[in-house]
Amino acid sequence: MSAATDSLTITDNRTGETYEIPVQDGAIQAMDLRQIKTSEDDFGLLAYDPAFKNTANVRSEITYIDGDKGILRYRGYPIEQLAEKSTFLEVAYLLIHGELPTQQQSDEWVHHITHHTFVHENIKTFIDGFHHDAHPMGMLVSTVGGLSTFYPEAKEINDAANRNIQNIRLIAKFPTLAAFAYRHSIGMRYAYPDNDLSFPGNFLSMMWKTTELKYEPDPILEKALDTLLILHADHEQNCSTTTMRAIGSSDADPYSAAAGASAALYGPKHGGANEAVLRMLEEIGSVDQVPEYVKLAKEGNFRLMGFGHRVYKNYDPRAKVIQGLAHDVFEVTGKNPLLDIAVELEKIALDDDYFVERKLYPNVDFYSGIIYQAMGFPTSMFPVLFAMGRIPGWLAHWQENLLDDEQAIVRPRQLFVGHGARDYVDVGSR
Ligand code: CMC
Repeated sequence: MSAATDSLTITDNRTGETYEIPVQDGAIQAMDLRQIKTSEDDFGLLAYDPAFKNTANVRSEITYIDGDKGILRYRGYPIEQLAEKSTFLEVAYLLIHGELPTQQQSDEWVHHITHHTFVHENIKTFIDGFHHDAHPMGMLVSTVGGLSTFYPEAKEINDAANRNIQNIRLIAKFPTLAAFAYRHSIGMRYAYPDNDLSFPGNFLSMMWKTTELKYEPDPILEKALDTLLILHADHEQNCSTTTMRAIGSSDADPYSAAAGASAALYGPKHGGANEAVLRMLEEIGSVDQVPEYVKLAKEGNFRLMGFGHRVYKNYDPRAKVIQGLAHDVFEVTGKNPLLDIAVELEKIALDDDYFVERKLYPNVDFYSGIIYQAMGFPTSMFPVLFAMGRIPGWLAHWQENLLDDEQAIVRPRQLFVGHGARDYVDVGSR
């Protein structure tokens, strides 16, 4: 009787057979399609979904997004509240452990992360080996993967205590690797972590410390960086998180999985977008050039970086928080002249039918790069900053995947459309 509301009736017009497929949580199980066959030796019906545009491959309790309404919540908490009231390390705890920490849990968590910021001295040798103009993201991808060789016990992925220590190490050491990569790229001596400073304060110190005995971060910039990290901390099943889960599904250690996730984040359609936004704004060059570039985008000859999102079909809530932050940061750093171009671009695009019809709004990366640049970060560091923020999200998903009995090693199917069997042809006869 309830079949009318919680199942799907499928008639296969090839055979005339009818099937009853259960619907749960708004989805059918793709494996239920396998019974739909044209003959006994037919493999069964597959769902074809390039780029997973309409496929849920996990049940997750971590992050909720309503792309149409522009809602983002971590473990139920709205991103706007976390950005205003929480800290990045508290959010990291929330994502990984599922609840906000008590005072004692928070103190222990912060203490452990603060005291795992140092990396093995050999990592420095490793970084020294890179060419002077190596992209810091390339160095990050390699060194994160390299960390797995220093912690072989990280392979014990089924041991909860062991997972916890690797989570702590990864969150703690990411900024150190990131800052070391930057220092190498400008030929400056590495600045070691300063455990007296806050998490973002320590990162700023490792980036900018020169001859002073103690680096004193500007509290406004410290808070702004912390907020930016919160905004990037998770975004459910995006490309890099899916990579983290996929690599983790083979029971690889979390350093190797995080290296893969970082590599996925490197691309300009994902974490490389904030770098691409800055390059785009520099290419546009002045406010009066904006209409020309909007025209090019509409003709399909130019992609407005920082616009559009696979999930958000409304204003990205993170972009709104960042707009507010920009004001605070520019009070300290002075206004970034690229802001005027960005504001004009946003104004024209949001008024234009092409963008309105396709629901293309500014995303998190549209303004973050302008802030990072005003804070002194070179564009090549932007995806690195994104990765530093995203690591707790990757770890939360990696762990959730491991503990989920429904999961197995990721192994999609394909629709083979290549040649049938054919005989090898000698090179002289080709
Ligand atoms: N500028 C101009 N046109 C665009 C843009 C853009 N930025 N984004 C999408 N479109 C058009 C696209 O040409 C297509 O038009 P049509 O239907 O006429 O062919 C339509 O909008 C749908 O685009 P799509 O590429 O099919 O959408 P998607 O969901 O596959 O891509 C996206 C999403 C984020 C890859 C894409 O919007 C994009 O490339 N944006 C620029 C890069 C960017 O800012 N990426 C950061 C995403 S947020 C950070 C993160 O989560 O990683």
